[in-house]
Amino acid sequence: MKDFSLYGIFGFPLGHTLSPVMQESAARALGLKVFYLPFEAGRKDFFRLMRRLPDLVLDGFNVTVPYKEEVCRFLDRLEPSARAIGAVNTVVRRGGHWTGFNTDVTGFLAALEKEGKFNARGKRVLVLGAGGSARAVAYALAKRGAKAITLVNRTKSRARKIVKRFQRLFPGVEFRETGRGACPMGVDLVVNATSVGLRPRDRALVRPSDFSRRTLFMDLIYKPAETRLLRQARESGHRTLNGLGMLLYQGAEAFRLWTGRRAPVSVMRAALKEQGKN
Ligand SMILES: NC(=O)c1ccc[n+]([C@@H]2O[C@H](COP(=O)([O-])OP(=O)(O)OC[C@H]3O[C@@H](n4cnc5c(N)ncnc54)[C@H](OP(=O)(O)O)[C@@H]3O)[C@@H](O)[C@H]2O)c1
Repeated sequence: MKDFSLYGIFGFPLGHTLSPVMQESAARALGLKVFYLPFEAGRKDFFRLMRRLPDLVLDGFNVTVPYKEEVCRFLDRLEPSARAIGAVNTVVRRGGHWTGFNTDVTGFLAALEKEGKFNARGKRVLVLGAGGSARAVAYALAKRGAKAITLVNRTKSRARKIVKRFQRLFPGVEFRETGRGACPMGVDLVVNATSVGLRPRDRALVRPSDFSRRTLFMDLIYKPAETRLLRQARESGHRTLNGLGMLLYQGAEAFRLWTGRRAPVSVMRAALKEQGKN
């Protein structure tokens, strides 16, 4: 019988991941013996491992790009929000069953509310992107009672699909898809849920100066800490929020699901900050 718990993260590439240091520091602070390892796996290896889930010695794991959607079909159960979104980032093993959760939803909302001081109820939001994280963001905002959610994506059909699916789930929210460059009136919040901004030469997908001063700009990217979109937003007098808070709170929720203990958020935040310097 092992006297420790073993967790990990699957994704490709994983060179940048801050999750191991964040999770292990949280466990240490609570006196738990936990190991958390990065498993950088190519497609073939990932699928081979997932097919052998019953034999894995892991107690749970995280999943990141590009496997958040594909992991679903290997799991025994999906928690309702993960099912609605069609993506899982946290998997819990209980009684020999593997259950998929989407803690990006709670992570996003916690960051938005605690750090951005933003309550989505009755608000109009523009979401850039239509990938896994955009779906989690749109779902979270709809759950919180946003008034209108507009999606813009390079591949329009992906955004249309989300609109169709979520409009059925949330009939009280106005879902729309719009073209790039569009700036819907009266937007309270803009969320960049694309990977545009990861590279220094990436241009911002919208021009913050086109939006009212009271619009909050949030970018899910946390490295760089300030993307071009956030820099332009700050320079035009807007409040901004990067993705570090979402990373922190999605990790805190995963920790709670795995250990049954409340996560020491300040310890995790300090670990992220320290690691982020390197
Ligand atoms: N802070 C956090 O905790 C957290 C959590 C999750 C994700 N994220 C970040 O969120 C971002 C998106 O992640 P994801 O999981 O949603 O990825 P994903 O499923 O691969 O989706 C990527 C999105 O970016 C768009 N995109 C990519 N290159 C583009 C380009 N050159 N021009 C315009 N649009 C482009 C894609 O558009 P198409 O559909 O047209 O390809 C798609 O909408 C990543 O940067 C990730 O690091 C952060």
